Amino acid sequence: MTELSSRIAGIGSHLPERILTNDEISAMVDTSDSWIRERTGIRQRHIAGEGVTTCDLAERAARRALDDAGLAAEDLDLIVVATTTPDFTFPSVGTMLQARLGATKGAAFDVQAVCTGFVYALAMADNMIARGQARTALVVGAETMSRILDWTDRSTCVLFGDGAGAMVLQADETASGPERSGILGTYLRSDGRFKDLLHVDGGPSSTGTVGHLRMVGNQVFRHAITNIAESMTTIAGRSGVTIEEVDWFVPHQANQRILEGVARKLSIPTEKVISTVADHGNTSAASVPLAFDRAVQDGRIKRGDLVLMEALGGGFTWGAALARF
Ligand SMILES: CC(C)(COP(=O)(O)OP(=O)(O)OC[C@H]1O[C@@H](n2cnc3c(N)ncnc32)[C@H](O)[C@@H]1OP(=O)(O)O)[C@@H](O)C(=O)NCCC(=O)NCCS
Repeated sequence: MTELSSRIAGIGSHLPERILTNDEISAMVDTSDSWIRERTGIRQRHIAGEGVTTCDLAERAARRALDDAGLAAEDLDLIVVATTTPDFTFPSVGTMLQARLGATKGAAFDVQAVCTGFVYALAMADNMIARGQARTALVVGAETMSRILDWTDRSTCVLFGDGAGAMVLQADETASGPERSGILGTYLRSDGRFKDLLHVDGGPSSTGTVGHLRMVGNQVFRHAITNIAESMTTIAGRSGVTIEEVDWFVPHQANQRILEGVARKLSIPTEKVISTVADHGNTSAASVPLAFDRAVQDGRIKRGDLVLMEALGGGFTWGAALARF
């Protein structure tokens, strides 16, 4: 059976209006704007208002991506939502979003790989398109991380924010060879032995509560640089391109020092690295499509550019995706 390529037909994102500055957080816990900026690069993050849920953010981003693709909800036959902060334990945000958009065909579900969620969701959709199981897929990363933060823990609450990003993928029979556009490859990894370094201390089947995010930040930091660099060289090697040939790097936005550490390790000029961490903080599964969309909107990423996305998150999970936009 011939494998089909997944073309990126459209992209969109959405951030809640409310901005929470470092100074505001400094009034809540023992921290400072200068500590947060120096250690993370974060200046502010967006926080969903009361009553605004992950599905609300996902819907706004999804509608923008569909508009950008010039497609309607009824064209969709697959919706994959990456989230760790769903509205409910079930149904999935995916099926809720399907109903909100008015899509009735195919399948919708959630993927839970924390900050690597969007890369995982992209891989799911790309593989289903390649096997002919879907033709037009909506892939969303959406989070309300603010709802699982312990707002008295300065080592975690300063790092995260809320938001959503979405991509529409479409099967493309015409494309072949290395110059084809769309998703050129995905690479997924996980290692469950590291769960205690980054986890949430609650859940439906253990505590019966939602729980709070807990992290041993400096240990996660060390793993992040090694694993992210490994996933980037692996995806490039498997796809037959060199790191130098990549036009843009769209990393998961956890910490500016991680972005710079990986760039240094792989000799990537920092101008090629899209960074939104200063304005968005870490929006978990939403961070990669949010950063990608910003760079498309401001004219940096153009059609035909080679783009490498990567992420690492709780689990640990990590991975990368290479695309010709
Ligand atoms: C969290 C992170 C910013 C902390 O920076 P760091 O340089 O590693 O700092 P450490 O954790 O070693 O802590 C250093 C000191 O700062 C303190 N500190 C932690 N958070 C603080 C804050 N918000 N304000 C002020 N001080 C803080 C610590 O208590 C510690 O104090 P001590 O030395 O008296 O014990 C950094 O480790 C990080 O970004 N890690 C990876 C995060 C990540 O990638 N997570 C998500 C993956 S999806």
